[in-house]
Amino acid sequence: MLKTVICGIEFKNPVFLASGIMGETGSALKRIAKGGSGAVTTKSIGKEPNPGHRNPTIVEVDGGFLNAMGLPNPGIDEYVKELQRVREDLNKMNVRIIGSVYGKDEEEFVEVSKKMEKYVDIIELNISCPHAKGYGATIGQNPELSYSVCKAVKKSVKIPVFAKLTPNVTDILEIANAVVDAGVDGLVAINTVRGMAIDIRAKKPILGNKFGGLSGKAIKPIGIKIVWDLYENFDVPIIGVGGIVSGEDAIEYMMAGASAVQIGSGVYYRGYDIFKKVCDEIIKFLKEENLELKDIIGIAHE
Ligand code: SIN
Repeated sequence: MLKTVICGIEFKNPVFLASGIMGETGSALKRIAKGGSGAVTTKSIGKEPNPGHRNPTIVEVDGGFLNAMGLPNPGIDEYVKELQRVREDLNKMNVRIIGSVYGKDEEEFVEVSKKMEKYVDIIELNISCPHAKGYGATIGQNPELSYSVCKAVKKSVKIPVFAKLTPNVTDILEIANAVVDAGVDGLVAINTVRGMAIDIRAKKPILGNKFGGLSGKAIKPIGIKIVWDLYENFDVPIIGVGGIVSGEDAIEYMMAGASAVQIGSGVYYRGYDIFKKVCDEIIKFLKEENLELKDIIGIAHE
């Protein structure tokens, strides 16, 4: 009932793991796959190993989490070994892999994407991390840089390429326009919203990086509005992400225009099997409303 086809790829359901949570090792990806996700997105992987920002890198706040991990990862050459170990198991479970890639320029994005391509079904370009100077949103807040990175990767790989967008811009449609012009096959929205928390006893910012990105329930209305705007303006599939904890949240994103959703912080609230729970809740809603999944994508625009 939830089978979904995006860019010619069949997913057993449209409820995926978002990048950044449980994506650093093959065994963690497998654990999430067992929790019922239709696809798992890797941690963002770069050219070289990166220790990330100093601790604390995450703190719970009202309505979600603030994180500034700083894109920690073992580098693409080590990471592909993780993917090699689990690729077949994930295939058997009919779970697709989205490879999240970051870099400081076109060359790095292309090199990592080409190495990732053999092991994943879709490349997701992280041009949106809000707190890694020179990476992520440094590119995704600039339409020219966003265009050239997406164009270069599109020319270099054969599998679908999605761009993950930052909400930390004045006009997200300008950035979306640049990446769609560059030929990306789809959009992922949104990455975290820039924020900060201060420890009033220590009289200092809590995060090692001082500021970070807010995820979780508080950002859902921001994500819904952005997905709505993207759906109104572009003809490529959209994966909605930001504050999804229940089937109702996922349905809201789909009604705004998302063909699939990703869950990150929700794993903390509802456990590894949140994916199965959310799928069951979507199915219950569809049965009650006598609708099919395809009927609800963008239905709120009618
Ligand atoms: C991180 O590793 O710092 C988070 C990645 C992101 O926000 O894109």
